[in-house]
Amino acid sequence: MADNQDAASHQPFRATRRLTGAGSGIAEAAALLRQGGLVAFPTETVYGLGADATSDTAVAGIYAAKDRPSFNPLIVHVPTLAAAHDIARFSPMAETVAQAFWPGPLTLVLPLSTQRGVSRLVTAGLDSVAVRVPAAPLARSLLTETARPIAAPSANPSGKISPTTAAHVLAGLDGRIDAVLDGGACAVGVESTILDMTGSPRLLRPGGIAADEIEAVLGVPLPATAPDNADRPIAPGQLSSHYAPRARMRLNADTVAPGELLLGFGPVEGAARNLSERGDLAEATANLFAALHDLDALEAPVIAVSPIPETGLGAAINDRLRRAAAPR
Ligand code: TXA
Ligand code: MG
Repeated sequence: MADNQDAASHQPFRATRRLTGAGSGIAEAAALLRQGGLVAFPTETVYGLGADATSDTAVAGIYAAKDRPSFNPLIVHVPTLAAAHDIARFSPMAETVAQAFWPGPLTLVLPLSTQRGVSRLVTAGLDSVAVRVPAAPLARSLLTETARPIAAPSANPSGKISPTTAAHVLAGLDGRIDAVLDGGACAVGVESTILDMTGSPRLLRPGGIAADEIEAVLGVPLPATAPDNADRPIAPGQLSSHYAPRARMRLNADTVAPGELLLGFGPVEGAARNLSERGDLAEATANLFAALHDLDALEAPVIAVSPIPETGLGAAINDRLRRAAAPR
């Protein structure tokens, strides 16, 4: 094998540049994206691995760098609702939720507008497209400066724990991507909520906006799909084993066994990390992936996790924990 190939995937080696939001970092990141490069950047949810959504070769690079199955489509990131109108068709209800929650941690699956050159690789051949307008200032500046729709999955190797810092990104993808734009830790900490708005609204993935907030705006209940039960899941990325640490996970743990590390929630004794000692779900969400990265680095065979309420953002936390605990 040639020296400049990655042993696991036969990927060409890419010297990964560390850029910061200060000074020329954003301009350099935008230039790399316009040239077809792969640039990880912070959003308010998690770090995304960005590529020009109009370029087949750039988008193919995302799948290769992550070892992502090519049937799993990507979210297109744009700076404004107006830019989203260029690539997708909005029903009146879709328009209402977009107005209410964008910019922010919400992704809408919408009918793809036929005219606008988003690569077929982005949608994995579907006639719908997932679109999001992120709120994080660095992401917004980068999208505006790049002036292209940017396809971006979470910036982690497929199936592994999502990244909420630039260090997490580098731990998984150093040498496989062109740059990471460092904007510190992500404020929300779990991925966006995904709503299917191609028909009557459905929740495809719980995430950074709680389902009841969306129901309040829509004025209708939001049925969830159970994509794990299907051979071809409706949000194809919702494979049951995901966010996987090396350790085994034991959920709803009220006690800790010898050899286990406890990931606590609330005022519990003996936790190796605590998502939120005061039992605050937003704080717990923001801490979730960093805590899993940290505990996994300690190489315990088992990570035990305190019970987390299923209300509000707790639904997104429990969704990620169940996938991390799924057999693989
Ligand atoms: O917060 C987030 O959403 C982050 C940041 C970077 O924006 N991105 C993210 O992307 O979580 P990813 O690739 O890890 O998850 C995207 C999910 C996958 O489950 C994928 O199957 C689903 O969106 N998806 C994408 N396009 C779809 C479509 N047309 N129909 C249904 N599901 C779709
Ligand atoms: Mg992901």
